[in-house]
Amino acid sequence: MRTRVAIIGAGPAGLLLSQLLHVEGIDCMVLEQRDRAHVEGRIRAGVLEQATADLLERVGADSRLRAHGLRHDGFDLVVDGEMFRIGLRDLTGAGVVVYGQTEVVRDLIEAGLQRGTPLLFDAQGVRLHDIDGSAPFVTFEHDGGEQTLACDFIAGCDGFHGVSRAGLSPELGSAFERVYPCGWLGILAEAPPCHDELIYSNHERGFALASMRSRTRSRYYVQCALDDRLEDWSDERLWNELAVRLGGRAAEAMTRAPAIEKSIAPLRSFVFEPMRHGRLFLAGDAAHIVPPTGAKGLNLAASDVRYLAEGLIRFYRRGEAEGLEAYSRKALARVWKAERFSWWFTGLTHRFPDMDPFARRLQAAELDYLRSSRAAQTTLAENYVGLPL
Ligand code: APR
Ligand code: PHB
Repeated sequence: MRTRVAIIGAGPAGLLLSQLLHVEGIDCMVLEQRDRAHVEGRIRAGVLEQATADLLERVGADSRLRAHGLRHDGFDLVVDGEMFRIGLRDLTGAGVVVYGQTEVVRDLIEAGLQRGTPLLFDAQGVRLHDIDGSAPFVTFEHDGGEQTLACDFIAGCDGFHGVSRAGLSPELGSAFERVYPCGWLGILAEAPPCHDELIYSNHERGFALASMRSRTRSRYYVQCALDDRLEDWSDERLWNELAVRLGGRAAEAMTRAPAIEKSIAPLRSFVFEPMRHGRLFLAGDAAHIVPPTGAKGLNLAASDVRYLAEGLIRFYRRGEAEGLEAYSRKALARVWKAERFSWWFTGLTHRFPDMDPFARRLQAAELDYLRSSRAAQTTLAENYVGLPL
């Protein structure tokens, strides 16, 4: 088998890249280790920057997004029970679209299948070869046989635990990391949201977030201890904790329905540089992770593959390699700004167990400043809606 671009991983990064290339007539093939039902069933975050929504439109995967995406022009912050609003549109002229990543993945798979993009699920044992040479190839098992896919380039879109970054010798790059001393416990419930915008709360018992997937489906999170187990958190305990941390108005409006899904995720910041090694390009979670507080994970995956697609299109249309050579530098410049924002917004809204009284007072002062300063709110809003590409 041969293709121009072998794409490892059918998450948002790999799927979106495949469609950006396919609409330009550039052959590619996506190799995914899990089955389609697993990929389409994973519950992830759900806030799209306008630039991400525009990319979905460009590849014709936006009809459900247009019909069901919820346009939000602001969100609310609750500080010790008192709520104030960050008016995104008023401050920046832009808003965000609330639409689950699960739905984005379904829409991209659907678009790919309709367009006839080769999308191979259940591709096991993927290995990359000769990424430093001029004729790289990928081997994997599929349908009980060993397969070889020859290509010009490989896009490593296989997430944080994938093989693409793991296969590089550590001395080829630098890894930067922060692990936070807490996790997020998330719950998805068939219940109308408690508020028409998202609510981020900093409470003495820890962070909480009220989000949504639609007008009938809610998504909530509470900060939990790293060693908490799901069994520690009955639905009742979780709803009670959300009510306390989100405060009066939200607590009154909250519909307590049984959890459809409940999970605990650690919080991590991670970047691997550079994002290119020979003919291998890393994109999305394969190259970087952000804590979910700023909702940047999916949006960064989208901006990475936009830069990468631009480089590949220029290469195949005009024979120019400059776009590919600039990929890592351009992507990392945006990645680090989102890393900074996600780290900052996490620090502002969480109560870490190792926070001393000095750090806590600085946090309270910063929240107070944010409440009263349009300049501070604009800085937050600009980053939240997404910095220019
Ligand atoms: N071979 C083939 N596929 C693999 C391999 C492998 N060895 N390892 C992982 N994969 C697949 C995973 O099963 C998954 O479908 O790669 C895909 C990676 O998808 P994501 O983890 O969703 O990463 P990405 O596409 O970069 O999207 C980033 O997703 O994880 C969230 O929070 C993250 O919002 C961010 C976004
Ligand atoms: C979500 O709805 O899952 C969500 C929303 C906003 C965030 C993180 C997650 O900052």
